Amino acid sequence: MASGGRPERLAPPEIFYNEDEAKKYTSNMEVSWNSCLFCPHTRMIEIQSQLSERALEILRLPDEPCYILDVGCGSGLSGETVTEQGHYWVGIDISSHMLDVAVDREVEGDLLLGDMGYGIPFKPGTFDGVISISALQWLCNADKKYHHPPKRILKFFTSLYAAVTRGGKAVFQLYPENSSQLELITQQAMKAGWTGGLVVDYPNSTKAKKMFLCLFAGGQPQQLPKGLGEEDAASSRISFTDKREKMKSMRGKNPKTNRDWILAKKERRRRQGKEVRGDSKYTGRKRKDRF
Ligand SMILES: C[S@@+](CC[C@H](N)C(=O)[O-])C[C@H]1O[C@@H](n2cnc3c(N)ncnc32)[C@H](O)[C@@H]1O
Repeated sequence: MASGGRPERLAPPEIFYNEDEAKKYTSNMEVSWNSCLFCPHTRMIEIQSQLSERALEILRLPDEPCYILDVGCGSGLSGETVTEQGHYWVGIDISSHMLDVAVDREVEGDLLLGDMGYGIPFKPGTFDGVISISALQWLCNADKKYHHPPKRILKFFTSLYAAVTRGGKAVFQLYPENSSQLELITQQAMKAGWTGGLVVDYPNSTKAKKMFLCLFAGGQPQQLPKGLGEEDAASSRISFTDKREKMKSMRGKNPKTNRDWILAKKERRRRQGKEVRGDSKYTGRKRKDRF
């Protein structure tokens, strides 16, 4: 499908998901754009439920009730899967119409109207895990004059990092428009302190391919699960590490250079959930003597 047909290109989410679209979303009628790019008729409930089940499988929650945040929860289709698996959830969404449908469907989760680009407004360590189905790519668009997508994505990931328990995990099923969007999202997640990578199901099928960004908030390093439909496990997982790992190995030692000291300090501040400018080749550079 041409990128022009994507809903993110048509209108801001709170406009696109208006009363009509929100109602169609859960009534299995044809919607303007379905998240399964190649399904001629939308089986939205079935598709969203399958994606949510897979996201929860990748999240690997313990066998006890957990407290989950559903980012871009919409009409509560993804949240219902969380309930079915015995967990509690809170959903955040920018569209009041989507949330109205969730209320009408009497979902079990608590619902919050909010823009993830402004950050996640919960106390530190509130959630055991996070899922998000078909929502994250919306953050790559600048819908208002003052929107700066890299900043909004960083704000989102930094606040999310603070809102989960240490060792907490987040799984985002997403539809990036191109590799630059994916790179921007993963870069900002790393800057915010997350580690992890991509799990790609059916990587060789244009029709069935699905992407899951799988993030860890500190704790023991964890292996990414294998993507479905791929013999060669390595080709279905792309791990990324961040500078935190480098910093961890420096713990207890005196940072050797001014740059190392500045990087370590910036890292500490990120872990505290503060907004910190990204690292670049200029960070901590030696300045010329001033006369
Ligand atoms: C494709 S729908 C998915 C809904 C839900 N996850 C499900 O499984 O049915 C994407 C949702 O992301 C929400 N969304 C988009 N941008 C958002 C933002 N900046 N903050 C919060 N929600 C957002 C939209 O309003 C919409 O409800």
